[in-house]
Amino acid sequence: MRRITIFDTTLRDGEQCPGASLTPPEKLEIARQLARLGVDVIEGGFPIASPGDAQAVKMIAQAVKGPTIAALARSLPHDIDAAAAALAPAKKKRIHVFLATSPIHRKYKLRKAQAEILRQAVWAVKHARKYARDVEFSPEDASRTEPEFLHQVLEAVIRAGATTVNIPDTVGFAIPDEFGRLIKGITERVPNIERAVISVHCHNDLGLSMPNSLAAIKNGAGQVECTVNGIGERAGNASLEEIVMTLKIRRNFYQARTGVDTTQIIKTSRLVSSLTGIAVQPNKAIVGGNAFRHESGIHQDGVLKHRATYEIMRPQDVGLSGSQLVLGKLSGRHAFAQRLAKLGLRLSKGELDRAFERFKALADKKKDIYDDDLTAIVEEGLPAAQEIYKLVYVHTTSGSDTVPTATIRLEREGKVAQDAACGDGPVDACYKTINRMTGLSPELVDYTLRSVTKGRDALGEVAVKLRHRGIEVAARGTSTDIIEASAKAYVNAINKLLSSSTRRAYLGRRSAPHP
Ligand code: KIV
Ligand code: ZN
Repeated sequence: MRRITIFDTTLRDGEQCPGASLTPPEKLEIARQLARLGVDVIEGGFPIASPGDAQAVKMIAQAVKGPTIAALARSLPHDIDAAAAALAPAKKKRIHVFLATSPIHRKYKLRKAQAEILRQAVWAVKHARKYARDVEFSPEDASRTEPEFLHQVLEAVIRAGATTVNIPDTVGFAIPDEFGRLIKGITERVPNIERAVISVHCHNDLGLSMPNSLAAIKNGAGQVECTVNGIGERAGNASLEEIVMTLKIRRNFYQARTGVDTTQIIKTSRLVSSLTGIAVQPNKAIVGGNAFRHESGIHQDGVLKHRATYEIMRPQDVGLSGSQLVLGKLSGRHAFAQRLAKLGLRLSKGELDRAFERFKALADKKKDIYDDDLTAIVEEGLPAAQEIYKLVYVHTTSGSDTVPTATIRLEREGKVAQDAACGDGPVDACYKTINRMTGLSPELVDYTLRSVTKGRDALGEVAVKLRHRGIEVAARGTSTDIIEASAKAYVNAINKLLSSSTRRAYLGRRSAPHP
């Protein structure tokens, strides 16, 4: 089984994605996560391009241990010197030099003949070798270069000391059979090729970066260049997670493996997405929000009976806690009952049938059905939520030099009790006091305040969401005084929690939690 080198270029080619720009500390944070993910090479940037890139490569070279740290350079002295300077602190470093070789780039961009390109490439590799033993050479636009000239360049740069030769499909023009043949041709026709690793670097302009990279692996490539979430110039680069998971799931077919810890994939994807600001499309393979979600009833039923009916990989293998059955209008009774059970709502067959009918009616009108909706569906027809506690009085003191304190009076079954507590602010002080008086300490999952009328005497509405022992409830409170609105919303939510427990007890299948 061959070991494929994973060369991550998220911080260099990935950052060339329109709209993505990372500060040096953000690049360092991603690089540390890439090291945890277990990539072999991290291309930290293009030091000559900007002082920020040079600084980022330097910070990564200093701090990140494990992977080889690479930096990009054109085949020019200043570029190579800048890359070498930025990489100086790295324990394992690689200088990656490139020069375009295709006729179109030679004629219009570089205005150089083949012989000149050949000389410059050889010079660049020799110059880079003065700084590093590990030197990669990329003939840019290799897939549109005459194969004979490409072979000549590769042989010459290997002789000059290149340890990896990278074959970029710079404009995403290649197609898998052809690209596979190109790699095979290199293994057969470049006489000294066994002295270097063949790498590939595929862009996604035709959506073929993945199949092209895989065809290259099948035909002898030992390194793949890729980015997290497939971000990169234009339509992006081959996506790391897709390559790694394909090699894992279809190991026997490819007879190849990587050193990546796949359970770190989701964490890495989310970090890259949040720091670059580039959202991952929901249907993106492996890391998209829908990749392990099932909505159709037939699929949900299959997954519940045997996960492998509709899943070719375990969500846990990429770092998720499990698959998700999304409840919507296509969901079946099996998934519905299972979700209710998870919420602690175990119904008789008749109750389940009636609740399922109400669920279907709601799902026709509402795309996403949340746990709150399910609880409401089940509780429909049961005794209404009771006003167990009534807010009688609220008074708070706060200010820049005062410890925020709240005094609350609550009425329960005709009896009024009073208590006071301090908090981080007047609202927090109210909630701490109410918790103490009711004996509950739910988690405040959400708090929003908005004005529902206009003017200085506007009515404020507070909406809170509380979670307690697996039950989540939402409630509102309104008042011209936002502290009172906050306290009312909280007491209403506590009442819902308590009556929800009572109603569960009424269902007779689960003991009520508190009080
Ligand atoms: O796409 C490309 O050709 C590149 C090279 C610099 C490797 O990014
Ligand atoms: Zn590229």
